[in-house]
Amino acid sequence: MKALKIAIATMSFILATSFTPLASAQQTGAQKSLYERLGGLRGITVVVDHFINQLVVNKTLNKNPAINAGRKSSPAPYLKFQVSQLVCEATGGPCKYTGKGMKESHAHLNITEQEWGVMAKEFQKTLDKFKVPVAEQKELFGIVGTLKGDIVIK
Ligand code: HEM
Repeated sequence: MKALKIAIATMSFILATSFTPLASAQQTGAQKSLYERLGGLRGITVVVDHFINQLVVNKTLNKNPAINAGRKSSPAPYLKFQVSQLVCEATGGPCKYTGKGMKESHAHLNITEQEWGVMAKEFQKTLDKFKVPVAEQKELFGIVGTLKGDIVIK
């Protein structure tokens, strides 16, 4: 009987310790930053590249003369660099955003609620194209949403 108890105790110990790595791997997965889950800068730059490419040719946005003029003062490659840095930092990555504040860089563009909607639709289409999972999409929209008050005119 004593031998059986020892055998059961030993088995329980082996089972408990052998499952520990799995449990900790799952924990690490849950704790991964949004930056990591997006594939780091490799993932973020590819998504930003496509997103900006779509935005700069958007006819509705370019009807706004201030936005159209802004395309010339801030060329697409510059915007891609700054937006990637911003997203990298905001999602927990190692970058440091060095561009202008959102108010400063958008106030003169008179961006309306409707134009914000056009941008959001393009953003959604880009995230779908690159198969960014729904949970990560929601987190990204949450981050972008916090900037809206500084970008859209009141
Ligand atoms: C309808 C929405 C938006 C439009 C039409 C828009 C358009 C523009 C334009 C035209 C510029 C260049 C301005 C200039 O040189 O005069 C600019 C700059 C910039 N935008 Fe936006 N933008 C929008 C939303 C956003 C959002 C949501 C973000 C962040 C995720 C963002 C990040 C930036 C950054 C980082 C810059 C460069 C700042 C700098 O010059 O240092 N924009 N945007």
